[in-house]
Amino acid sequence: MKKTLAYIAIIICALQQSVAQNLVPVPLHVTKPDTTMLLVWKNIGTITCPHTLANEREHLTRILCERADITRLNPNGTACITLGIDTTLTDDEAYTLHIDPNGVKISGKTPAGVFYGLMTMEQLMIDNHASAVCLTTPSVDIIDAPRTHIRELMVDPCRIFLPYERLKEIVPEMARYKMNSIHLHLVDDQAWRIEIKSYPRLISESSTRTGMDDMQMPISGYYTQEQMKDFVQYCAKYHVMVIPEIEMPGHEVAAIHAYPQLTCHSRQVPIRTICGVSNELLCPGNEFTYTFLGNVFRELADIFPCKYIHLGGDEAGNPALDCWTSCEKDQQLKRRLGITTEDRSENWRLQKYMFDRMIDTLRTKYDKVPMFWYETDFKEIQEGCVTFAWRHGLTQVAIDAAMRNNAKIILCPGEYCYLDYPMAVGDMPETNWGMPVVPLEKVYEFDPGWNMEKEFEQKNLLGIAGTLWSECINSPERLFYQAFPRAMILAEAGWSSKNNRSWPNFKRRARPLMLDMQRRGITFSMECGYK
Ligand code: ACM
Repeated sequence: MKKTLAYIAIIICALQQSVAQNLVPVPLHVTKPDTTMLLVWKNIGTITCPHTLANEREHLTRILCERADITRLNPNGTACITLGIDTTLTDDEAYTLHIDPNGVKISGKTPAGVFYGLMTMEQLMIDNHASAVCLTTPSVDIIDAPRTHIRELMVDPCRIFLPYERLKEIVPEMARYKMNSIHLHLVDDQAWRIEIKSYPRLISESSTRTGMDDMQMPISGYYTQEQMKDFVQYCAKYHVMVIPEIEMPGHEVAAIHAYPQLTCHSRQVPIRTICGVSNELLCPGNEFTYTFLGNVFRELADIFPCKYIHLGGDEAGNPALDCWTSCEKDQQLKRRLGITTEDRSENWRLQKYMFDRMIDTLRTKYDKVPMFWYETDFKEIQEGCVTFAWRHGLTQVAIDAAMRNNAKIILCPGEYCYLDYPMAVGDMPETNWGMPVVPLEKVYEFDPGWNMEKEFEQKNLLGIAGTLWSECINSPERLFYQAFPRAMILAEAGWSSKNNRSWPNFKRRARPLMLDMQRRGITFSMECGYK
């Protein structure tokens, strides 16, 4: 009787598996699963894996335990799991996954590829109810590789602080969907959130305030350098790189509050407690600005090994840099640079001067690739830099600029990728300055190829990003609610080939994964037809 029940359970599980298409992002090639040839997980007797894949083996151990209730291999088991490196694969993140009754074989060009093979294997083990222990998996062959190289989530701990332990929680969740970068927006008008030993007032004066618009709550906190070093190592286990962002010349009120000599008038200004854009900017005519940024970047380079560093650059010209127009030091700098125009275009040239200096420092001293938010007035993208297309309706302009300048671009257009925007009308309890609604299906329409010729994708497109600005994200739970399931769609847009994607199919594939999230206690929005 016991044996018959076990057999029935195996058949039910197999039927569920055969209809379950749980894979997000959808892989490049999947053979039709063969449900007559089942791998019985409890038959796994051996794991073969080189010691260079020790980290991936740890992930495998967790998956076997959580998904198949295997804490010890079967001493009489005849099936084997093999993890290995295959240097013939074309992309660093590419992998192959083979499952049959004799076991599992995952090969990646690098450990990252092996990790992604494991993430796919784990999704195959999630049945349609997302709760049962997986007993069997049909035979299948998968060949997979990413479409773009950076698949990022941007987190903003400035407006509402995200404590370190809560920040960590998002990493395994994004990695499940093969996202590989977390971009930390570490400074803004409302707070400075990273310890800089050369400038202790950044934390003592500028990491605590009360309130954000109509949310009257104390908002306080910062990341120590030790925490950030630990974070880098933690993320590396999930093959996620950490891109730090220090804004310039705008979005710097918190720094100016602590060190007023950074701005033209040298007067202390209060930390901003409302959203929107401040007129206070770093002064380009003042040498202290460069000393300050140079020391900040030196300390940052010591913490973050990532080859990218983000310099901000957004919204410093709207209104158009008035504080620079009347500053004597900036007037002197203009004369020195031979800038004679008076129509404010000169201010963009001062901004370029500041960027050129810092870009040079970052490249020559720290071998970093600078990134910045694209602004239409700031027409040049310095060689080798990466720009982000973020402004609603202006993606084409940013793409044209990237192509003209032979530069790389990451797409995060507001109308598709701003995950802090509400997913449905009224789904925003806090002050909202008119953020547009970005529903799930709209996000699914986003294609990083942007209907351009293949050449754009090959030469300029570096990746995609989803932003989680936190003016209206008042808790870590809300962060997940805003992010998911839209981040899964962006992950798919960044990873999967256009021909393999379809909205109705995505909804079917995502459903068991979201039920699995629910079971694991991860918050997500229900504004997606899964009610
Ligand atoms: C931005 O949303 N200000 C880049």
